[in-house]
Amino acid sequence: MSQMKRLPIGILGSGKGSNCRAILERIRSGDLAAEARLIISDVLEAPILDMAREFGVANAYLPPGRFRTRLELQREVQLAQMLRDAGVKLVILAGFMRVLHEPMLTAFPRRIINIHPSLLPKFPGLEAWKQALVAGETVTGCTVHYVDERIDHGQILAQKEVKILPNDTSESLHARIQVTEHELYSAVIAEFCEKYVELSQQVGD
Ligand code: GRF
Repeated sequence: MSQMKRLPIGILGSGKGSNCRAILERIRSGDLAAEARLIISDVLEAPILDMAREFGVANAYLPPGRFRTRLELQREVQLAQMLRDAGVKLVILAGFMRVLHEPMLTAFPRRIINIHPSLLPKFPGLEAWKQALVAGETVTGCTVHYVDERIDHGQILAQKEVKILPNDTSESLHARIQVTEHELYSAVIAEFCEKYVELSQQVGD
């Protein structure tokens, strides 16, 4: 594994970062041929930044500016530059609570992915597992997709189902979905890693 070409990734998150942890652990154990170059949060006290320090990954707080659901234009330009400077080839959103726009989407075309806790296109938006419960669904799950300018939208890369049990609470269902998220996200990232290695071999990099 140490000789293997590793995909340089950047992770963006606003919250607790359980997906980020799952990815970092799989890298450390040698299950993912990736290299975390940079972890960025728009929330100064986000646990995801402590996690970056724990795993020895470069990290930064990016003040988001005055909007609630997106970054100010100059901040987003700065974000793209930071990721480029770090040599990042795949940007992974792990609970990043802002919609990305042109500066990031142009800098990383089809190179930004997100995970969402529902079987999209069903239940985009916040607390998707609660939406599924309230709607009386018997099955929900999670989705990994490319990021575009719309919330929880963009080409779907992979999905995994999670059954809703008769006595599920929103907490129990969310916990099972998160376990599934960690597996699915790593599987998708592993595919990107394989393609990166193949491509590097073809160009003799
Ligand atoms: C996950 O449920 C993900 O699907 C959604 O945000 C949540 C982030 O959780 N986009 P965590 O911070 O990775 O635990």
